[in-house]
Amino acid sequence: MKKIPFVIFLFSSVLLCAQQPLKIPPTLSGTNFNLNLQTDTVGFFAGPSTNTFGVNGNILGPTLIFEKDSFVNITVNNFIADTTTIHWHGMHISPENDGGPHSKILPNATWNPSFTIMDKAATYWYHPHLHMKTNPHVTKGLAGMIIVKDAEEAALNLPRTYGVDDFPLILQSKAFDASNQIMPQSHADSISMVNATINPFLDAPAQIVRLRILNGSSNRTYLLGFSNNMAFDQIASDGGLLAAPVNLTRLRLTPGERVEILVNLIGMQSQTVNLVNYCQELPIGLYGAQYPAMNQSTTLPDYPNNPLNLVNYNMLQINVVAQTGSPVVTIPGTLATVTPLLEINSNMSRTITFGTAFPGPLFLQMPFLMNGLQFDMNAINEYVPLNNIEVWELNNNTQTSHPFHIHDVQFYILDRDGNAPPLNEQGRKDVVLVAPFETVRFIAQFSDFESDTVPYMYHCHMLPHEDMGMMGQFIVSSTIGVNEEKENSGIHIYPNPTKDKFSINLKDEFIEDLKVKVYDLTGKLIYNKEIYNKQTMINTEDWANGIYQVHLSNNTHFSTEKIVVQH
Ligand code: C2O
Ligand code: CU
Ligand code: CU
Repeated sequence: MKKIPFVIFLFSSVLLCAQQPLKIPPTLSGTNFNLNLQTDTVGFFAGPSTNTFGVNGNILGPTLIFEKDSFVNITVNNFIADTTTIHWHGMHISPENDGGPHSKILPNATWNPSFTIMDKAATYWYHPHLHMKTNPHVTKGLAGMIIVKDAEEAALNLPRTYGVDDFPLILQSKAFDASNQIMPQSHADSISMVNATINPFLDAPAQIVRLRILNGSSNRTYLLGFSNNMAFDQIASDGGLLAAPVNLTRLRLTPGERVEILVNLIGMQSQTVNLVNYCQELPIGLYGAQYPAMNQSTTLPDYPNNPLNLVNYNMLQINVVAQTGSPVVTIPGTLATVTPLLEINSNMSRTITFGTAFPGPLFLQMPFLMNGLQFDMNAINEYVPLNNIEVWELNNNTQTSHPFHIHDVQFYILDRDGNAPPLNEQGRKDVVLVAPFETVRFIAQFSDFESDTVPYMYHCHMLPHEDMGMMGQFIVSSTIGVNEEKENSGIHIYPNPTKDKFSINLKDEFIEDLKVKVYDLTGKLIYNKEIYNKQTMINTEDWANGIYQVHLSNNTHFSTEKIVVQH
């Protein structure tokens, strides 16, 4: 591997751009939140200013502070002159409030989600999710952090004074053209930013400080560490505190992931330490390493010359300053009760295989596929019975890594290629990086929310991959998977879900003049017949995947049942 001395790059980057104080996004808290999505500009460089999107400001958005069990009302006003959506990444919210691609907010329109905060204390985030526009909207600046607080976390002696000993760090890299405009699709994303600050420094007190780190980059995976190689403690993963702090010197963070770490700066007053991306230590085959594919013969345009892929670099300079009053000076030995779901309690498993449309030498070319398909807004890929505990097996059959994300649930990683995950991946997660040709299995429970019409998403969190259709959608519903005969109803429709046909079994008293009508969810009549037999087969081969209403009626009886067709 080609090695360029670290010092040289550090020196040249200082020449490029003077250091800036790290911007700390303002906070919003309470139960009513107003978010204005707006167009604006930022003067990142000499010359023309950069056109950006922001939330209540010129780039990124305020940090939202949510209290567990509170009920929040949010007003999202869309002033960006393009349709968009806002999704609450990592949070357990009904599909109607989740902000996926079906919850469009038209230009100058307002969206009013409201929901109860059911999540554990951790760091989440919000960002647009319009199909094919997620990357352009996020990389132009629409994204913000969410901090959920709860009693379990509040009982611990942890730093939690925002901007004083508890700092948000939104990591991104962006590409700019000659007139200083952001280029969403470029692999020349050579400008590293934290909280939309280029070449940032942070004054942090000489005590235990907490960093909440979000990888908000479109593609890039980071390998974080400190310039003096000091160890630090990870205390939270995506969706909650870990059971106990995990001591690390390197931390891999893939797009969409969040971690909280504690950094011990005691005794370091007036010293400087840098948060570094040790990209040279990343294994090849992921975006951010020297080679983005396992097969080194293929790369991406502009990728081989991008210094962020080649040379370790400073992301944030930390200047250690005097202690605050009543500083946190110890790290708790244990944190939270983590109760992973057990595989023995699972009642279904599914497999999602990542593939490419272009095997052979074009293997890094999009689209990437899930189970051979590109995302289709009108097709439901998976039907999940409400309350199911499921094992999902992710097989990466491509040359490059993909960060897999699922809405609605937090999951627990069961294994990576059959081995238990590292300690810092043994907590609640909603994003997992799947390396080339790796198999990752996780377990999750799909409880509380159901809808026959509004699906949740699962997708690769490399935003160009997602936009190009490396995404699927699932319905959670209590009408799915009911195969048992309804007690005493005398009507038995099975199997459900079905592929090609289902059968209606009846007790004698219903058979007289019984009409069967089947409607799809738009109310269109799909099937209409009278039944004369105890058992009737209905062929569904030509029906689209979806949920159908089966109406059975005669002079004395009316009933409706739902059936899921999934080919
Ligand atoms: Cu962070 Cu479906 O997204
Ligand atoms: Cu999400
Ligand atoms: Cu991907």
